[in-house]
Amino acid sequence: MSLRAPKGTDDILPPVSRVWRRLLTTWETMAESYGYDLIMVPLFEQTEVFSRGVGESSEVVQKQMYTFEDKGGRSLTLRPEGTAGVVRAYIQAGGQGIMKVSYSGPMFRYERPQAGRRRQFYQVGLEYLGTSDPASDVEIIELGFRYLGAVGVPDVVVRLNSLGDPICRPQYTETLREWLEDRRSLLCPDSQETLDINPMRVLDCKACADVVAEAPSPVDSLCSPCEEHFAEVQAQLERAGVQYTLDPRLVRGLDYYTRTAFEYVGSALDSAQTAVGGGGRYDGLAEVLGGPATPGVGLALGIDRIVLSVPDQPEPALDVFVTNIDGRREEARGLLSDLRSKGFRADRLPDQRSLKAQFKAADRRDAQAVIVVGEEWESGQVVAKRLDDGSQDVIAYEEITTWLTSR
Ligand code: HAM
Repeated sequence: MSLRAPKGTDDILPPVSRVWRRLLTTWETMAESYGYDLIMVPLFEQTEVFSRGVGESSEVVQKQMYTFEDKGGRSLTLRPEGTAGVVRAYIQAGGQGIMKVSYSGPMFRYERPQAGRRRQFYQVGLEYLGTSDPASDVEIIELGFRYLGAVGVPDVVVRLNSLGDPICRPQYTETLREWLEDRRSLLCPDSQETLDINPMRVLDCKACADVVAEAPSPVDSLCSPCEEHFAEVQAQLERAGVQYTLDPRLVRGLDYYTRTAFEYVGSALDSAQTAVGGGGRYDGLAEVLGGPATPGVGLALGIDRIVLSVPDQPEPALDVFVTNIDGRREEARGLLSDLRSKGFRADRLPDQRSLKAQFKAADRRDAQAVIVVGEEWESGQVVAKRLDDGSQDVIAYEEITTWLTSR
């Protein structure tokens, strides 16, 4: 039997990997332009980082973690998300002041695989630690929104809610528990169980959507500081031109959230996996992980889902493909090296292949142009051909750069 990638994992191969590269480079550029430094944390952590950080009552911790014992008898877990590890790192480094960081990499959750739901999936994310200024919530939401627009996810809407804080949440949870208790028999078996552990999570159950449609929302019970924070976030989002809708049922699947919670929803995916990203504020997380009280807000976007949502256009992988005939390989290699040193994305085939095979390769790689090093070389010229319209010129060697950039 041949060896295959594990269930729920993907090999990302060309040409689809070109879309990935574009998504990741755009991410790096945008995160940097908003002032986010790069952070890299381990792909696995002590299990406690997640069981405490993400929360024992979350589905992620209860059912989805890849937890194993290493040869030293330690319980480790492949990261199911990025936030808990980043906050652990912040605390370990001294836990002081503002830290704005971006990350990208694989996450691991044992889920039932389907399109847009993988066991190894790829997130890009941001964490903004050390302030509870609503402007930081807005900056995060805005960056995610602009990024999704820039890479071409259609019709992105931000769904926004506030989940309150340790002052107002307990009262709300009690109100909700009583409301749900009265309707216990209408809830699905899973939600009946969840109700005893974390009533708010019942709002997130797809099967119980009808039952909970009229349930009390956390926004109805906010204390005044939470209410002011939420109002300010909304006012600033409007000023920033970010389209959002209030979603009083949005609770998110991870336990660390306080106040702001949001998701990005696009139209291109089918109903089950519509969220291409999400995030929120987690002012209590650092303390839960044993650090000093530190407010924070962040987001993560799912690249696997974004790839499924953006237009399926092959990206031009190369500016130019260099070919040769009549054995002029040395000359072609020299030209290739020259073009690369000038910053063009350029390539050629190894070995001496027919011109037809070389053009075919150029096509497969979605090169925008082909240069033929042939007999014209003797008079200092090459044939230059554009692959989109088939137009062709004979140009002097010194003109190649201008010709390549002239359109
Ligand atoms: P999350 O909502 O669990 O949040 O995940 C964020 C995004 O990751 C989802 O919207 C989705 O696009 C993608 N995603 C999640 N699970 C899968 C999966 N099994 N397969 C494919 N894509 C998936 C977080 O992870 C938080 N750490 C976000 C955050 C950062 N909150 C504050 N800071």
